[in-house]
Amino acid sequence: MRCIQALQTTLQLILASSVCVNAWNRLDKDNAALLIVDHQVGLAQLVRDYSANDFYNNMLAHAAIGTTFNLPVVMTTSTEDGPNGPLFQEIIDMHPNATLIRREGEVNAWDNEDFRNAVRATGKQQFIIGGIVTEVCTAFLALSLADEGYEVYANTEASGTADARLAEDANRRMEKAGVTLMGFFAIVGDLMRDWRNTPGTPEILPPMDKYNPLFRPVWRAYTAARENGTVEA
Ligand SMILES: *[C@@H]1O[C@H](CO)[C@@H](O)[C@H](O)[C@H]1NC(C)=O
Ligand SMILES: *[C@@H]1O[C@H](CO)[C@@H](O)[C@H](O)[C@H]1NC(C)=O
Repeated sequence: MRCIQALQTTLQLILASSVCVNAWNRLDKDNAALLIVDHQVGLAQLVRDYSANDFYNNMLAHAAIGTTFNLPVVMTTSTEDGPNGPLFQEIIDMHPNATLIRREGEVNAWDNEDFRNAVRATGKQQFIIGGIVTEVCTAFLALSLADEGYEVYANTEASGTADARLAEDANRRMEKAGVTLMGFFAIVGDLMRDWRNTPGTPEILPPMDKYNPLFRPVWRAYTAARENGTVEA
């Protein structure tokens, strides 16, 4: 009897402790930084789990998150001199003052001391990552950051690889390590939290219109109907 009671107590303790685990991590715009990892013109040619148009859009959308929420941005490239090529110039143009660490050999950006210093210098605890390719540049860095105790948010739309199965395997691996997998809309929504905040509706609508191909026609149809007087403003 005493044994059963002890067992019950143990089970209750286990249940109680499992209830304490956070069901989800929430992005906090004051505690987040954006990492742009190897969005290089050569590497982009390896991406086959998104169309070239979609992935190009998604890379720019990822970079725009930094602009919209005024987040610290750290960019990095891998062996630019070889076939990987430079970072898309459009991305550099969006973040002319952000640190760009050009790795000369390290596959995992975390193995590069300058990159580690740049990440630490942001002073942030949450990192939003997009990279090419998903199972190498994104996953290796995401896992290293998680090991360091940071909260990691992988932008699954801004990471690409050869096929959907490789992406699934990489995402499962990251998720097992506590990395949160999200897309552009969810990241923007979680950073904004409330349309009445700043950044809120006036700041979020332009990037949503520009980079979210489903939101765009919905919003424009509404705007047209409102201008026409079909719906009230
Ligand atoms: C970059 O820094 C310059 C000089 O401080 C500033 O004028 C410019 O607005 C900055 N650009 C961005 C995109 O932050
Ligand atoms: C709204 O659109 C309809 C259909 O094209 C048109 O007949 C009408 O004049 C428009 N109204 C305004 C206020 O623009």
